[in-house]
Amino acid sequence: MCPGDKSISQRAVILGSLLNEDIAIKGFLNGEDPISTANALNAIGSSITIQGTSVTINKRDIPFRNPDKEVDLGNSGTGMRLMMGLISSLNLNATLVGDKSLMKRPMLRVSNPLNEMGASVVCNEGRPPISISEGKINNNFDYVMPIASAQVKSSIILAAVAANKNVTVTEKHPTRNHTERMISYFQGNIKSTPEDLGNKIQYTSSKLIPTSTYEVVGDFSSASFLIVAGLIAEQSNILIKNVGLNPTRCGLISVLKSMGGIIDIQNERMVSNEEVGDIHVVSSSLKGISVGGDIIPNIIDEIPILSIAASFANGETLISDAKELRVKESDRLQAIADGLRKINIQHELYEDGIRITGSPDDISVCPEINSHGDHRIAMSFLIAGLRSKNGIYVKDCANIFTSFPNFIEVMSSLGMKLNER
Ligand code: S3P
Repeated sequence: MCPGDKSISQRAVILGSLLNEDIAIKGFLNGEDPISTANALNAIGSSITIQGTSVTINKRDIPFRNPDKEVDLGNSGTGMRLMMGLISSLNLNATLVGDKSLMKRPMLRVSNPLNEMGASVVCNEGRPPISISEGKINNNFDYVMPIASAQVKSSIILAAVAANKNVTVTEKHPTRNHTERMISYFQGNIKSTPEDLGNKIQYTSSKLIPTSTYEVVGDFSSASFLIVAGLIAEQSNILIKNVGLNPTRCGLISVLKSMGGIIDIQNERMVSNEEVGDIHVVSSSLKGISVGGDIIPNIIDEIPILSIAASFANGETLISDAKELRVKESDRLQAIADGLRKINIQHELYEDGIRITGSPDDISVCPEINSHGDHRIAMSFLIAGLRSKNGIYVKDCANIFTSFPNFIEVMSSLGMKLNER
């Protein structure tokens, strides 16, 4: 029921291509973002075939090659940033572009460390298009990340893996560690040591050993829409199966539990070196909370839907230290505030967060909400519609296909009435 993890699906096709053996990936997220990453890999010579949630990567007989045209990463920031690392170390020449949203997103956070590492990456005023030409990745590059970003960390590590070099990356705040987990799964030599704050990650050049299959676990970020739907809807009782529960990703569970959410985890197990389980949720009466600091990178993609939970909670919720939201697929803090204003939820917007004064009452207005073309904003406000007396209309929802292609089907199966106009 829970679609495959977007971050892991993208890493699986990238590392799978580097392993250069026949590999079958199961549970792949057949959404636009992982598909654009797979297409980008095929453009440089990989042989990836996608059939639904099954992916086959075939061994290549020839080395990676220059793409014959611009490589289009669509809406995917992860795809672009991870491919910057990979392509930089393969001695290729390539230009990376994306859709309107991606072309506005900051890329120096990746190109700067890659260039320090010996790559040759040029941005256009800090944004795409990205021109990569042949460079030479240095051994033993040591980088302390100024921002908390799993994409930056992963791009640097993937560059080192592809170039057979050692690298050390220090993150001051822990971020999702799927790249490290996957490298370990393929028996690469990577270790993460907790520091005062955050982690020091050291990769030592090593031969990765392929497995014939890799199973992608369900996406916690997609499950979070179902979790909040279950909490705020009346008389609900739902079980979401096969959800990734990597501790660097599922901080929203503890946040929602502190708000009074009744959530329990069942059937916990490990799949492909990732924690996974089934999440049981029942309708709950929620109260406001303050969240900020180290937990923010862990819940960064869940803040839009957390804002909806906060809107129907008693009292105030304060979200701070979340300035990164301003440079996601949209300016998510502004997009959340715009949507909340439309549904009459009191709030105050800050540069790095938002204060929301919730109310357990249902929404009585039936406004048109702008998703700003952002999948997580669109899904969040559609879920808010569960508590609307007269329905809710969210404009511009096509980008839901980037991360949760069967959202309408899944929500309809839970009894939600969703109509497309
Ligand atoms: C991702 C990392 C996060 C997250 C994004 C996916 C990844 O971004 O917001 O949706 O797959 O590494 P940052 O690393 O830029 O914070």
